[in-house]
Amino acid sequence: MNYRHAFHAGNFADVVKHSVLALIVEHLKKKDKAFRVIDTHAGVGAYDLSSGPAQRTGEWRDGIRRVLDARFAPEVEALLKPWLDVVRGENPSGGIARYPGSPLLVRRMLRGQDRLTAIELHPQDANALKALFADDFQVRVIALDGWLALGAHVPPKEKRGLVLVDPPFEEEGEFDRMADGLDKAWARWPGGTYALWYPLKHRKTVEAMRRRLKAAGIPKILDIELSIRAPSAEPRLDGCGMVIVNPPFTLKRDCETLLAALAPLLAEDGKGAWSVTWIAEES
Ligand SMILES: C[S@@+](CC[C@H](N)C(=O)[O-])C[C@H]1O[C@@H](n2cnc3c(N)ncnc32)[C@H](O)[C@@H]1O
Repeated sequence: MNYRHAFHAGNFADVVKHSVLALIVEHLKKKDKAFRVIDTHAGVGAYDLSSGPAQRTGEWRDGIRRVLDARFAPEVEALLKPWLDVVRGENPSGGIARYPGSPLLVRRMLRGQDRLTAIELHPQDANALKALFADDFQVRVIALDGWLALGAHVPPKEKRGLVLVDPPFEEEGEFDRMADGLDKAWARWPGGTYALWYPLKHRKTVEAMRRRLKAAGIPKILDIELSIRAPSAEPRLDGCGMVIVNPPFTLKRDCETLLAALAPLLAEDGKGAWSVTWIAEES
């Protein structure tokens, strides 16, 4: 386990992941009934962009920094608001020094009745996460293999909610593990929403995953992608995507509006590319 998210916190991939994640959580809040978010690869929850790894790579400057400096049309502002309210809330003096990762973002959005289960395998990161949420009865932090948790922790007792799967993709076969994990979890909890992040690095592997998901017989799978450059000759993080099972009914349209604004902002050539397509529609 070499991957350290601190080097990448707030980069373009986090912008896509966290803005879409916030839209899904916001949608869950439209009903009073409690929900649970299960974050299977949670990281440490909060990242210091002003020093250490994030400062060394500076990836956040082409991510969250660009978003905070930009001016958007009102409809895009409205879609970014749930996420940016949390980011700004973590930086009350202005600027951006502390970046909220997925578990902290979700936690800040929960109502009193909602819950978060945050799972992280790296012992140091799991401890940091436990310290961040110490004495917080709405959050359960578990030091566990997220792939095991995906089978063991669904359905949650609330029977409403979201599973975020955001692995580091540092090992061979992680696309297959993701598709296997989704198969198993969906069989146990077909009504849950699942958001699975993936890198656009090896196009053939992504195509294979899409074919596999199409054949899986799971209805309502939305696929969103954003590229910041044309495919590189050597494997490189040229973009990222998210597969969303059981998306909120407004998410396709909202993602089209959002990505149309984010792609030119985040792309190296000022244009970028994006798509929002159904892998499987309602059966
Ligand atoms: C991409 S980062 C997560 C970022 C976080 N979801 C966010 O958006 O802020 C992936 C995390 O997964 C952890 N990890 C790696 N293998 C894991 C496993 N099998 N189970 C759970 N966590 C794992 C890594 O230590 C790392 O913190």
